[in-house]
Amino acid sequence: MESVASAPGKTILFGEHSVVYSEPAIAGAVNKRATVKIRRSRNQNTILKSKDLNFEAILDTRKESYSLKHGKPGIIRYILNALSKFHDHTPIEILLSINIPIGSGLGSSAAVTVATLAALFDYHDIPFTKESLAQDAYNVELDVQGMASPLDTIVSTYGGLIYLSREKKPISFTNHINSNFVIGFTTKYGNTGKMVKNVKNLKDAYPNIINPIIEDMGFIANEARIAILKNDISKVGELMNINQGLLDSLGVNTSELSRMIYLARKNGALGSKITGSGGGGSIIALCPHNPDKVMKAINRYDNTLKIKFSKDGVLTKDSI
Ligand code: MEV
Repeated sequence: MESVASAPGKTILFGEHSVVYSEPAIAGAVNKRATVKIRRSRNQNTILKSKDLNFEAILDTRKESYSLKHGKPGIIRYILNALSKFHDHTPIEILLSINIPIGSGLGSSAAVTVATLAALFDYHDIPFTKESLAQDAYNVELDVQGMASPLDTIVSTYGGLIYLSREKKPISFTNHINSNFVIGFTTKYGNTGKMVKNVKNLKDAYPNIINPIIEDMGFIANEARIAILKNDISKVGELMNINQGLLDSLGVNTSELSRMIYLARKNGALGSKITGSGGGGSIIALCPHNPDKVMKAINRYDNTLKIKFSKDGVLTKDSI
């Protein structure tokens, strides 16, 4: 028997950093996914293979260790942690395919974790709900990374565009943004933990200045929610630009991110901003008319990817 599950990457449209202080946020699943197949191993080894990431490893699920035949290990820790929680150590073969670039800020680890858990639950006939799956995936990310954003695993599980309320309740939008977006990413990874700490230090040093900025980001997310519901794309773009100014004031911008942001606007993006923690990492640009022009301009210095938001969250064998 073979179990299959897939889960999407995500991008944050509004609310990075302010969400840490319980302000609302908007994030969405994208049309780039991780797919995990699990079947009984043909020998005594538990094997993990990914052609897309060009790696193959033998896993020791009891010791939570692995020996790499070739490739980079990055994503293996998430899969091993998921197996340590929900697998009975019988030898299995795990095949991972993924078209989310690692380090692009599109939540590749959350997508792999959600897809691995869903495939594993199917393999063992363990019942789950989207709520329990998002929580289990969050726990895996927390174990592996020491800190994690619940947004990543919620969006990867539920799919679609999600408004996360002050009470951390995910509310799915009934409509959708159909436009193209461009993700621009540098090879300099952002360090989320460090960025969150820097913002906290700034907030502690200047509470009268920084608290209203964070609150303003919450107002922007609420205003954006209304704009999305009315399908007012230009307003969404304008709000992205305002949000970017506030993110810059929190000290999470870099010269590379700024270059991508302004190149996007110069080449016709309706809005562009950092997505995720900043300090390296990625930007998102709203490009309904000219994504290729924006990509060409950014590609002279950095990397890009054209994405659309996607309604699909986690999918298992029956729904794939
Ligand atoms: C990182 O992707 C988003 C942050 O808001 C951190 C978090 O939500 O945990 C910076």
